Amino acid sequence: MTPDPLFDVRGKVALVTGASSGLGENFARCLAARGAVVVACARRADRLEALVRDGGAAHAVALDVTDPASVEAAVRRAVERAGPIDILVNNAGVADTKPSIELTEADWRRVLDTNLDGAWRVAQAVAKAMVAARRGGSIVNIASILGLRQATHLLAYAAAKAALVQVTRSLALEWARHGIRVNAIAPGYVVTEMNRDFFASEAGQAVVKRIPQRRVGSPRDLEGALLLLASDAGAYMTGSVVVADGGHLVNSL
Ligand SMILES: NC(=O)c1ccc[n+]([C@@H]2O[C@H](COP(=O)([O-])OP(=O)(O)OC[C@H]3O[C@@H](n4cnc5c(N)ncnc54)[C@H](OP(=O)(O)O)[C@@H]3O)[C@@H](O)[C@H]2O)c1
Repeated sequence: MTPDPLFDVRGKVALVTGASSGLGENFARCLAARGAVVVACARRADRLEALVRDGGAAHAVALDVTDPASVEAAVRRAVERAGPIDILVNNAGVADTKPSIELTEADWRRVLDTNLDGAWRVAQAVAKAMVAARRGGSIVNIASILGLRQATHLLAYAAAKAALVQVTRSLALEWARHGIRVNAIAPGYVVTEMNRDFFASEAGQAVVKRIPQRRVGSPRDLEGALLLLASDAGAYMTGSVVVADGGHLVNSL
């Protein structure tokens, strides 16, 4: 079947960070299945190589977003192997659940270093490559509904994601002149291997009851938002934050 030209990503080079598991792995598979040349990046090389063997990505490149030299090398390697980057899915992230009164300097730094500094670092390195290639591109930052509202015991994560929303808007403003669109997806709770047990528990089920659609998302629930922002379907969108959360943000007070 010929894909809808509006959402066509065939032949586009897409760099996906955090592609070794969870949402990132599914973003890579989604784009690769639609003909994009996916460069899968993360620290766990064995998982990336398995993804490539499986057809979920064309290339595997080791990346630690907290290390500026690693980011620079990974973007360079991605361009050498796949060609100029058209799409960045800036997805690598970590969470830490702890009462704020107990949060250590190290806890705070780890979450901010990865989710905020890392996301900015990768966006800038990829944007430099896009500007050098003079062909623009699309950056999709993976934020969270916790960047728009708050929950207990997730202070550093919520702060980092709220800042990422502002990074998205600020970069959209600055990089429009280079033809680079910068948008974000703010997912609600999505089941991945890291939280599957929680959502099966009583506490997890209590969270589900507060979601208007009465279910947590699956990684596939984010594919529509990804394809909209990554492809020409989103040509006039930049600085947007697309919420995909089963209505969690609009639950009743
Ligand atoms: N699941 C949800 O409910 C949900 C909701 C809203 C937003 N999000 C966001 O979605 C993104 C993916 O989360 P997930 O649920 O899929 O979690 P996950 O399965 O734990 O995936 C996190 C990914 O980030 C990578 N990563 C972590 N630190 C990294 C680093 N320093 N350098 C490079 N890669 C790094 C991990 O790869 P390596 O360990 O191999 O490096 C892994 O591939 C995150 O930004 C998260 O905040 C998730």
